[in-house]
Amino acid sequence: MLQSAHVLVADDEKNGRRMLEILLNQLGFQVSTAADGAEALEIIRTTSIDLLITDLNMPKMDGLALLSALRGEGNELPVIVVTAYGTVESAVAAMKQGAFDFIVRPLDVEQVEMVVHHALESCRLKQENTFLRDQLDKKGWGEFIGQNSAMHNVYDLIKQVAPSKASVFISGETGTGKELVARAIHRHSGRSGLFVPINCAAIPASILESELFGYVRGAFTGADKDRIGKFEFAHQGTVFLDEITEIPLEIQTKLLRVLQENTIERLGTNRNSKIDIRVIAATNRNPRLAVDQGHLREDVYYRLNVVNINLPPLRDRQDDTLLLANSFIEKYCKQLGYPKLQLSTAACELLTAYPWPGNVRELENIIERAVVISRGSKIDEEHLPQEMVMVESQQLPLQRQYDDGGLQDCDNLENCVASLEIRMINNALQNAEGSKAQAARSLKISERTLWYKLKKYKIGVTYAEE
Ligand SMILES: Nc1ncnc2c1ncn2[C@@H]1O[C@H](COP(=O)(O)OP(=O)(O)OP(=O)(O)O)[C@@H](O)[C@H]1O
Ligand SMILES: [Mg+2]
Repeated sequence: MLQSAHVLVADDEKNGRRMLEILLNQLGFQVSTAADGAEALEIIRTTSIDLLITDLNMPKMDGLALLSALRGEGNELPVIVVTAYGTVESAVAAMKQGAFDFIVRPLDVEQVEMVVHHALESCRLKQENTFLRDQLDKKGWGEFIGQNSAMHNVYDLIKQVAPSKASVFISGETGTGKELVARAIHRHSGRSGLFVPINCAAIPASILESELFGYVRGAFTGADKDRIGKFEFAHQGTVFLDEITEIPLEIQTKLLRVLQENTIERLGTNRNSKIDIRVIAATNRNPRLAVDQGHLREDVYYRLNVVNINLPPLRDRQDDTLLLANSFIEKYCKQLGYPKLQLSTAACELLTAYPWPGNVRELENIIERAVVISRGSKIDEEHLPQEMVMVESQQLPLQRQYDDGGLQDCDNLENCVASLEIRMINNALQNAEGSKAQAARSLKISERTLWYKLKKYKIGVTYAEE
């Protein structure tokens, strides 16, 4: 492949040009020549050249001017400069300006061959890398899959806020990638400490305070030695307060002090120590509503909401569904040693029509299951859960916003019943502050039936509490 490369030799001395031309021809390269920099530039602009070998001293435009003209045009063509024995300094100057390497006259055949091959090979690798990166960019960013414009805004925000110490508040339904975002912010922050995730809902309220702030020996019964809290553990790193609305209000007050004063006070002592942490918080509730309903202190919310990242539900970025599905197929096929499986058209249709109440996590689980049960053949409808098929066949023609309470589109019994059901479910969910278990009880239906109806009517589960 390298052998068929097209090399341009620029040298004002005819003999010098000729010698390189013969030598490169013998090595199997296609060669063009130019007598000065200006002519070389013209050839490069109009012909496909893979490598430039140029003399430095030339009339009209010398080697350095040629090099800087190329780089000025954004042309990354690899350039090798030829220099006379004893004038290596000028070649070094050229390399500082972006030349790949230099060769010294009188020419040594082996040296020319080695340097030329090296330049072409490294250029090929660079191009390959750019190609792969471009491919990746087309699918998403880093480990994020998704090219929907809302997701591009998220990637941009992550890149913008990561290097600062600003607190970030991430909201979005369950499974939309909030933790993925938090980790990406930490990774791009350059902060030297750890990423410490704290699932505030999973830690019992009684021990949350000591988990967060640490304690000294004797602070309470059972505190038989000093213990460092999660905040101190994350010194110079990032604390991820997941499900922040689940922190009891009195602990939120203490949290506010940490955020405002950058100090931490272990339980059982009055001593403050300085702490350097970046805080990222997340919730799958509506944060404004959580404040209004008294689950989240307003001052804590404002302190944390310096930058807000809201992750759109998967049903609002349908164009990403198949991209995500395919990348999960690739992941699980690799794990199971299968060749990459295809999705049948019917399966694609089902996947794009389904409302994904559990978002990307649900999609990933469903694909993992499908890959396993497909046993290495094409993924078809039958490999997807039965309830997805049911939801699709019973779906209403339009996805509507039903919380206006009206009975629009009531032109037949089926639509009227649907409209009424949706109104009642929305009301029940609102009264139950998003708790599906409670909403189901008040509607006197099972949770399973409620789930089914949520899917059927594509009712968002923004304030989900599983
Ligand atoms: N854009 C994406 N590209 C690839 N994988 C994703 C994307 N978004 C989410 N995921 C994957 O989906 C799963 C759920 O993501 P994550 O745990 O970040 O969601 P979450 O919003 O924190 O959910 P929850 O509120 O339930 O905790 C993870 O396995 C994550 O890697
Ligand atoms: Mg999470």
